Amino acid sequence: MYRLVYVSTAKDGLSTEDIGRILDVSQSNNHERYLTGFLAHNGRHFMQALEGAYDEVREIFDRILVDDRHEGVVQILGETITERAFPDWAMNYFRVDDRRSSAMVIRHDDPVDGLLPKDMPRELLHLFARFMRIEPLPA
Ligand SMILES: Cc1cc2nc3c(=O)[nH]c(=O)nc-3n(C[C@H](O)[C@H](O)[C@H](O)COP(=O)(O)O)c2cc1C
Repeated sequence: MYRLVYVSTAKDGLSTEDIGRILDVSQSNNHERYLTGFLAHNGRHFMQALEGAYDEVREIFDRILVDDRHEGVVQILGETITERAFPDWAMNYFRVDDRRSSAMVIRHDDPVDGLLPKDMPRELLHLFARFMRIEPLPA
């Protein structure tokens, strides 16, 4: 199996509804392919982890690369894995507090424990925690 992480910049004016549509398609596509992962959005940037069979991950990533709802996609991690970090999530989504309230929004001072799987690789936890500007728990 393979895990890929990238960051990108959301297109100006991307709405909550637009993100909802991205998530609907992602969850159904990913479920069919047994792809799992995590999508974080901090108001301007995305960070996404996608994991599953190598060919499936690359195929979906090729689509994501040319998706005009974001730009400047930069892959920051690509690694062979034996275990999934997000086994239960076809695509879970968190948006960091942008002062609007919504059930899916997390606050900067929320504890990271409840948001990310406890046993996920530390390197990955640090990546997402930093992106979400949450201080990771000490090792
Ligand atoms: C930030 C972001 C994350 C995305 N994540 C996924 C994903 O995990 N799985 C997926 O199938 N599509 C994802 N998409 C949507 C794909 O780019 C694409 O629109 C979708 O797979 C449908 O492709 P198709 O129109 O070729 O059928 C994402 C798009 C964006 C902008």
